[in-house]
Amino acid sequence: MFRCYFRRIPQLINSVDKHFFNTVAKKANILENYLSVLGKSVDYVGIHGPTAEEITKDINLSNKTCLITGANSGIGLEMTRCLSSRDCTVLMACRNPYAANIVARNVCGNSHLLKLYEINLASLRSVKKCSNEILNDQSKIDIVILNAAVFGLPWTLTEDHLETTFQVNYLSQYLLLMNIEKILAPDARVVIMSSESHRHVSWDFTHQLSPTEEMVSLPKHEYTSIRAYNISKLCGVHFMHYLAYRWLKSGKSVFCAHPGSFIKTRLCRNWWPYEALYTIMKPFSKSIAQAASTPIYCATSPELKGLSDAYYKDCKRNEESELAQNLHLSFRIYDLTRELLHDRNVAKDEPIRLEEVVAFPETKHALDEGMVANLSG
Ligand SMILES: NC(=O)c1ccc[n+]([C@@H]2O[C@H](COP(=O)([O-])OP(=O)(O)OC[C@H]3O[C@@H](n4cnc5c(N)ncnc54)[C@H](OP(=O)(O)O)[C@@H]3O)[C@@H](O)[C@H]2O)c1
Repeated sequence: MFRCYFRRIPQLINSVDKHFFNTVAKKANILENYLSVLGKSVDYVGIHGPTAEEITKDINLSNKTCLITGANSGIGLEMTRCLSSRDCTVLMACRNPYAANIVARNVCGNSHLLKLYEINLASLRSVKKCSNEILNDQSKIDIVILNAAVFGLPWTLTEDHLETTFQVNYLSQYLLLMNIEKILAPDARVVIMSSESHRHVSWDFTHQLSPTEEMVSLPKHEYTSIRAYNISKLCGVHFMHYLAYRWLKSGKSVFCAHPGSFIKTRLCRNWWPYEALYTIMKPFSKSIAQAASTPIYCATSPELKGLSDAYYKDCKRNEESELAQNLHLSFRIYDLTRELLHDRNVAKDEPIRLEEVVAFPETKHALDEGMVANLSG
């Protein structure tokens, strides 16, 4: 009996060996595939949906002009490339227009359709200067994509004494848009780059009733970079509600677009653990070309004609968070925004006049008395 077992030992070793080496080989294969994906983006259409290029394949944008903030990098650059390849003139509002010019001309085929503007969103002065230049140069803008953002910064204050993430991601882009509102085409579309992370803000009832500067422009002792980012993105969704309301009587529309999560761009550059996390997640997340699809869909798709005030994810309508749906909060954040800008002497946009608003019978139901009183003030 023992002899029988002894005879089988070499056989056993052989099979264990084969199994072992097969497993190791498979693992090495997976690892090799994984590492190759880390190096370059792969468009897994089935999993992550179409690219911006595919979304716009039947769309001609030859008479259109689009303004994009942060157009020199990541998703902004891909949107610039895609729109200019459809003959759209793209106004690239970038922090460093000289560097942006070089990048864009390397990437975009129709580089004669690109125009660069310098803007530092951490400075309201710079925003004002940039908007004046745009107003001087342009007579009509059809699409605006408020794309620029920062993430993962240590706590810093801007020259306007506001927390940087809040000012760059929200306040300055609010000001830019309101400054150029008068040259928006009658059927203009505005896309605010959003993020699912807006869902992670929780404010109690009292805070929702009257948001304060400290709630949006976080002081150092309350600051974490994720928190600041989430709040800035929540403010962006409320900005959409406010704009939709402001433009109720016009043909202009506004959308929020979530491009996807963990897209490996320069957004995560400010802190190495984020850089590592985004690198690890790269094989499982959208490519930059795919991430650009939802904002480009919102900006150009004929399917959205006549619609406004909607949050999109994966090119589909999605409900924003409960806090983001709170219209009362939208108007309170609008008040706060105007106050912050007013204190810094740059509040430009005219508030809506009450008679314009109540001319729409359906909006009467949407408003509570507080809002009406506030609008008239
Ligand atoms: N990547 C993701 O996983 C992800 C997920 C959800 C939402 N998003 C949103 O998608 C949008 C695009 O992000 P991305 O991933 O493409 O990031 P990105 O490559 O870092 O692009 C951000 C852009 O914003 C610009 N910017 C930053 N600070 C600025 C300032 N002070 N003044 C002017 N421009 C400034 C950057 O310019 P510089 O090159 O000069 O710094 C850059 O062009 C953002 O709104 C982001 O919140 C991204």
